Amino acid sequence: MNAPVASPADAIAVLDPQSYADWDPLLDLFDKLRSESPLTRIESPGGEFDPFWLVTGYDAVMQISKDNAGFLNAPRATVFTNKVGEAFARQITAQQGEESPNLVSSLVVLDAPKHPKLRRLTQEWFMPKNLRNIEAAIRELAARTVDKLIAAGEGGPGEDKIVDFVKLVSAPYPLHVVMQILGVPEEDEPRMLFLTQQMFGGQDEDLNKSGLASLTPEQILQIVTGAVKDFEAYFESLAAQRRANPTADVASILANAQIDGEPLSPRDLAGYYIIIAAAGHDTTSASTAGAMLALARDPEQFARVKADRSLVPGIVEEAIRWTTPVQHFMRTAARDAVVDGVPVKAGDWLMINYVAANHDPAQFEDPRRFDATRPANRHLAFGAGAHQCLGLHLARLEMRILFETLLDRLGSVELAGEPKRAKSTFVGGLKTLPLRFSAA
Ligand code: HEM
Repeated sequence: MNAPVASPADAIAVLDPQSYADWDPLLDLFDKLRSESPLTRIESPGGEFDPFWLVTGYDAVMQISKDNAGFLNAPRATVFTNKVGEAFARQITAQQGEESPNLVSSLVVLDAPKHPKLRRLTQEWFMPKNLRNIEAAIRELAARTVDKLIAAGEGGPGEDKIVDFVKLVSAPYPLHVVMQILGVPEEDEPRMLFLTQQMFGGQDEDLNKSGLASLTPEQILQIVTGAVKDFEAYFESLAAQRRANPTADVASILANAQIDGEPLSPRDLAGYYIIIAAAGHDTTSASTAGAMLALARDPEQFARVKADRSLVPGIVEEAIRWTTPVQHFMRTAARDAVVDGVPVKAGDWLMINYVAANHDPAQFEDPRRFDATRPANRHLAFGAGAHQCLGLHLARLEMRILFETLLDRLGSVELAGEPKRAKSTFVGGLKTLPLRFSAA
């Protein structure tokens, strides 16, 4: 198959974080590109980005994700970065004695043989069997979060309230959960929130808290570098505490873990904490807000699930597909290959676009529709293969418990204004969700 190259206008749209805030035109663009080929060559008109393959087809994203020897994470930035950004990261990591295109050394930037060794350390902890031990604590956090929602907002007792669901529920709740499993005390959570938003919200001025309307890539990198350093210092001291007094949390497992008879290096240890703190927070926030948006737009669906809680897991799974909070990861081809009929060369850089894959009509009927009863919802929002999301059972559990709690406590919900999406090519989703609700 001849490999298509995107037009300059389409390339700009794919590269622009604003496209992810606007959403529907981006889905239209993915549909158009996918209908021509599952892979499209993107060449940035200004030359500030290296060329890469945008992968929009479900089968192609699945093939690349599962072939972890053929498509590597480590050689290039795993989150889409421009040339200046990647060079800057290499410069910083070179100063630390390890030239890498990624500022943080974590599971998502490693390949075998190191990746499986590190992953094995916490794999069991994140399985449903072990998560049962923290279910009661998560339920307690959900109850406290919903208490705050019910108590907030304008309007007296018995009257409808108007709130921002993101600010009150979907942002703080997953942060509480992930901080609890990492052993971070509640008074330090605002600092962690600030740091994860600086790391992941780098392209959105409302989220990165810079106060600047438009940031240069260098400014964004500086914000991210500062956040990484702050995280490292914080978690180094947490690990020291867990070595002295181990508990049953993930922090204790990592602080006391050994690989090939050696404890984890400070960079690997900090990277592990950072990936769990960062990956476990904004992602679940986005899918939680998306589930609530779907319920607020459809009162009949809200009434149905309120009456029948067996529908909650379907709502949760469909919200994760429909929102696809992690919008892409990058891979580098280890050798020449053919991806769903399209030849790629060793060294080529590929963007596996989970949003595009999860909206592929060949896999999902009427993909833009929120359908909680979708049969065999084999979405790719958690990825696939060796790097498939470590926290996927936790994310589902957190969301199920929260919605069970919300459905007990809410009488009605509806939209009270236009929700706004984040400007980000990486982790996206709603940054505001104005709701009007009544308590049950
Ligand atoms: C709805 C919520 C979430 C979504 C959509 C999501 C999505 C993803 C995706 C797409 C990947 C990369 C998969 C791949 O490369 O094949 C990933 C990896 C990862 N996620 Fe999640 N995630 C979510 C929640 C969480 C939570 C709650 C945690 C932990 C507390 C977590 C921890 C991780 C870690 C550690 C990795 C790296 C795994 C590796 O490279 O081996 N995630 N996630």
